Amino acid sequence: MHVRKAVLPVAGWGTRFLPATKAMPKEMFPIIDKPVIQFIVEECIDANVENIIFVTGRHKRPIEHHFDINTDLEKHLEECNKTGLLENIRQISRWINPIYVRQKEQLGLGHAVLTAEPVVGEEPFIVSLGDIVVEDGSSVIEEMLSIYNKYGRSVIAVFEVPQEEVGKYGVVDAVHLDGPVYSIKDLVEKPSPDKAPSNLAIVGRYIFTPRIFEKLRVTKPGKGGEIQLTDAIKLLLEDEQVYAYKVENKVYDTGTPIGYIKTIIDIALQREDIKDEMFEFLQDIINKHSQCIDI
Ligand code: G1P
Repeated sequence: MHVRKAVLPVAGWGTRFLPATKAMPKEMFPIIDKPVIQFIVEECIDANVENIIFVTGRHKRPIEHHFDINTDLEKHLEECNKTGLLENIRQISRWINPIYVRQKEQLGLGHAVLTAEPVVGEEPFIVSLGDIVVEDGSSVIEEMLSIYNKYGRSVIAVFEVPQEEVGKYGVVDAVHLDGPVYSIKDLVEKPSPDKAPSNLAIVGRYIFTPRIFEKLRVTKPGKGGEIQLTDAIKLLLEDEQVYAYKVENKVYDTGTPIGYIKTIIDIALQREDIKDEMFEFLQDIINKHSQCIDI
């Protein structure tokens, strides 16, 4: 069955970024001049997703405004003859017809995905998490779709992380099949490094068969007292094979302050308009700081 819908859970508190996230969704944090969520939406559009379903919560209105038409701003840019900016702003608000579903209580990622069930219905769907930006992410979704089309089963994107970082992610125990494709045997959410079954971490890109909803309904609170998507996938494994796709693309984790800063610096160094100045600036401050830091 054709995969047409993507669910983007954006209802979380953003506790790792407090107090910055007290009134501002972390999904709206800019990577230079583009909010993180726009990277995720562009990835879906480039992979020909037809419907984007945001699972939102209180304090998440700026996301809705971002993808909505702002006639006053458009009029202003038109009057000032800022044609390039005007085109850009127009494009963002006309790309998608978003659907917003409200998660009334923040009970975990699994619960957020379950909230989208009435809109997704009985069809396979993508889940893309808002804090991970993948370089050329649409190619990852396209690869995952071709694995889904081959096997007709759920596909989870994973990437290799250093062993000491496994505790930040869901981790899979998987058997290698062919090229980047693995067959998942087990999963664990944020294991301690000595208990992790591997260093293959869940990236935050998933394609699910609709049976995941059945499993989410019976998933008990797990790590952190939250209803974890990883635990529901573990239940799904009892009935269906689940595949992993190993991503080789660069993965940016914008969900923590240090990951966010690294993302901005890396992407700034790739932007023609600012890369030279940024490079000089970095060299300069590294020189200055290396005199006082023991590195
Ligand atoms: C979530 C998932 C985790 C996954 C991670 C990717 O965790 O629960 O399995 O590895 O996203 O970013 P979170 O970062 O929301 O705590």
